[in-house]
Amino acid sequence: MIQISCTINHKPVQVEVEEGETLMAMLRDRLGLTGTKRGCEVGECGACTVLVDGVPTDTCLFLAGLADGKDILTIEGLASGLELSPIQQAFVDCGAIQCGFCTPGMVLSAYALILRNHRPSGEEIRKSLSGNFCRCSAYVQIIDAVQTAAVQMFPEG
Ligand code: FES
Ligand code: FES
Repeated sequence: MIQISCTINHKPVQVEVEEGETLMAMLRDRLGLTGTKRGCEVGECGACTVLVDGVPTDTCLFLAGLADGKDILTIEGLASGLELSPIQQAFVDCGAIQCGFCTPGMVLSAYALILRNHRPSGEEIRKSLSGNFCRCSAYVQIIDAVQTAAVQMFPEG
């Protein structure tokens, strides 16, 4: 076992992990953060996406040991208590959630995009979310939700 220290959802955490353990397994199985979804497990679907130092990352391919010293944001860290973040609320309001399996990863990828681009075009959103698959094909509503959230998060543009 190896011990790592990192920040998860704004809190410093120390965790013991196995060598070869994925960040997905650490988050879900050790820490109970099951908003990070276990999908394809080969880096193709994006369901397991979290932000590592602000960068959308497939946690099924990322070793937990490499999370030492990193700042990790999972879907559980976006809301403030019971209040959804603007990006989460926009997904609800725009009907961008169907089965919801892709939603945590999709929301986190979209959040990272909005932080670096306050007014993403449809094409930019499609490109940035191209690693996140939605089996329900809610893509039109997802683009609407991302653009709605961008205006709410950065009203001045
Ligand atoms: Fe990681 Fe599909 S579960 S990309
Ligand atoms: Fe079902 Fe996207 S809402 S996979």
